Amino acid sequence: MQVQLKNIEVEKSKTTKINEVDFDNLAFGSVYSDHMLVCDYKNGAWETPKIMPYQPIILDPAAKIFHYGQSIFEGMKAYKDTDGKPWLFRPLDNHKRLNISAKRMAIPEIPEETFIEGLTTLLHLEKDWIPTTPGSSLYIRPFVMASGIGFHASPADEYKFIICCAPSGAYFSGKVSVLIEEQYSRSANGGVGYAKAGGNYAGQFYPTQLAIKKGYNQVIWTDDNTHEYIEEAGAMNIFIRINDTLITGPTSDRILDGITRKSILEIAEDEGIKTEVRKISVTEVVTAAKSGKLKEMFGAGTAAVVSPIAAFGYKGVDYDLPELNDDYASLLKKRITDIQYNRTEDKFGWRFKV
Ligand code: PLP
Ligand code: COI
Repeated sequence: MQVQLKNIEVEKSKTTKINEVDFDNLAFGSVYSDHMLVCDYKNGAWETPKIMPYQPIILDPAAKIFHYGQSIFEGMKAYKDTDGKPWLFRPLDNHKRLNISAKRMAIPEIPEETFIEGLTTLLHLEKDWIPTTPGSSLYIRPFVMASGIGFHASPADEYKFIICCAPSGAYFSGKVSVLIEEQYSRSANGGVGYAKAGGNYAGQFYPTQLAIKKGYNQVIWTDDNTHEYIEEAGAMNIFIRINDTLITGPTSDRILDGITRKSILEIAEDEGIKTEVRKISVTEVVTAAKSGKLKEMFGAGTAAVVSPIAAFGYKGVDYDLPELNDDYASLLKKRITDIQYNRTEDKFGWRFKV
């Protein structure tokens, strides 16, 4: 699919930082490309988007983002194939989810043309920033925040929609070990867990710091009511393989409807892997670990791609996952990244030409 570009103001940067970047040693999301897109919402409407040199933004100290955390974001990637052509993966799904988040956080929805045209125009300009070192990509961060001012605790009347890009390597370096959470909660029924709201992530930092102090990389959230069911990790959905069945929890008010998650489910089914979308209890996982039936756990997300979990901790006991030669995680990661990097046919129609 290709989108016709129109109606976007472009101010090109006179300089480039690209030669300062070590593309062979990219961290995740820590250097930013030359341009960004900014679109303001004022007087009840989104204005014409502008692409401009990457720069700080000026906000009034009374902007509601600072006081009431009215902000949402998306995470996407642009991939370059061996012919140098850039691709996106299911960007319309990110746009839909951004608007689901917007609605929940009382933020005005972003029109599809603004999102897709803005993104593709920006990527045309930033093509050289899409890295080609294996496993790397251009991480794209679209976000919306309340720039309108006031201490009244009510939605702002002005917003900024911004897209910036960061050439990035892997999100996790090395094996991932997780702590299954027994005390803190990420989200609750009727809450904002299904939205990509900034505050969902801020609320995870303290429990995650505690887990890191104990030697884990990530927390696996459990349901807030009983802490008995596996929900998701801080930045990815979770898959669990018991014997030959691949299980993931159902999405709900509390869980982000991950685009990688739903793609992995479709690919697994296409591979003939038995999948189940159902509640999975910690007791079931621990019992399976003790009896050797727990074969794999992995996280799935745009940043994390498919990240195998090497071990998990629960109630003071650590459980190691076996190392398999025929693991689902490697197979599914290969299938999804082959589509993303245009290394294979895309029978699902997920790849999007920039
Ligand atoms: N769950 C959370 C909390 C996330 O932040 C993410 C990352 O976007 C995911 C799951 C995975 O979602 P996706 O595959 O759409 O990136
Ligand atoms: C993503 O995978 O794109 C995310 O948004 C996770 C982020 C918190 C790094």
